[in-house]
Amino acid sequence: MRYLPAFVLVCACTLLFPMTIRSAAADKQLIAHRGASGDAPEHTMTAYRLALSQHADFVEPDLAVTKDGQLICLHDDTLERTTNIATVFPDRFDPQMTNSRGGQHWLANDFTLAEVKRLDAGIWRGERFRGEQVPSFEDMVSLVRGKAGLYPELKSPPLYTSRGVDMAAIFVRTIKRLGLDTNESLRQTPIIIQSFDEPTVQRVSKELPTIPRVFLTSHDEDVTDARLDTLATFATGIAPEKQVIARHPDMVARAHARGLTVTSWTFRADEKTAYPSVSDEMRHFLYDLGIDALFTNNPSLFPRR
Ligand code: G3P
Ligand code: CA
Repeated sequence: MRYLPAFVLVCACTLLFPMTIRSAAADKQLIAHRGASGDAPEHTMTAYRLALSQHADFVEPDLAVTKDGQLICLHDDTLERTTNIATVFPDRFDPQMTNSRGGQHWLANDFTLAEVKRLDAGIWRGERFRGEQVPSFEDMVSLVRGKAGLYPELKSPPLYTSRGVDMAAIFVRTIKRLGLDTNESLRQTPIIIQSFDEPTVQRVSKELPTIPRVFLTSHDEDVTDARLDTLATFATGIAPEKQVIARHPDMVARAHARGLTVTSWTFRADEKTAYPSVSDEMRHFLYDLGIDALFTNNPSLFPRR
């Protein structure tokens, strides 16, 4: 009986603040990389729904910008790997991007959102996924908001700058219009912004100061003490590729000492590694090396304690 008041309090808090409580209790954060992309086509609503059902703390949308200035969820700058654009718009490839072997590329930024919505983003992963569309960022937010956190990546801001498009400005406007940066929204739907582009991380630190932001890197040079000192002046975390952390495991404590979180990528069941399973690999990085969070294609295999 003496535990009853505490039990009632925990139940009440869980009902009132489900996301906050789950994240705090989870201790380590599971980010569904491109959704549950090991089980469904990356960056589709099916992959995002699956990530939620597999208890992801955060769902990752990589972002691109359409010709009419809309944010869409897409990993590549171009559309041919993950959609049937070569069939739907066979003549609309970018001739300047044609490579020496004749490979053709269709830049997302050359197509309007309405045109992108005509594409099939599922069939490349099998007939059962036929009919999946490329989601807009707002489609993705509508699905995930209130159920898990958002971990958007601003992909290739310099590419857009070279085309006269201010990707960061579009992103900041969208976040503010949706009210995603308010403390009330962040309590229910945490967001962490990520980019490989350092000036973009610096910029969002000023323009969206309430939202944590993480600098992505695959370079050993970014985990020196001097670089961590610099990153800590504007970023809230660093996200090195897992091989960088494996080569410099001491960087975790050095980043933590500067107040930076450490996140790593990408953990996938279909990659051959020295570990017996991807769960073992994730367990090593989380609990032996002490990282805070990781991106995985296989949220269902995340090793919670
Ligand atoms: O954003 C973390 C990780 O996803 C970076 O790699 O190429 O899969 O976006 P990429
Ligand atoms: Ca990414």
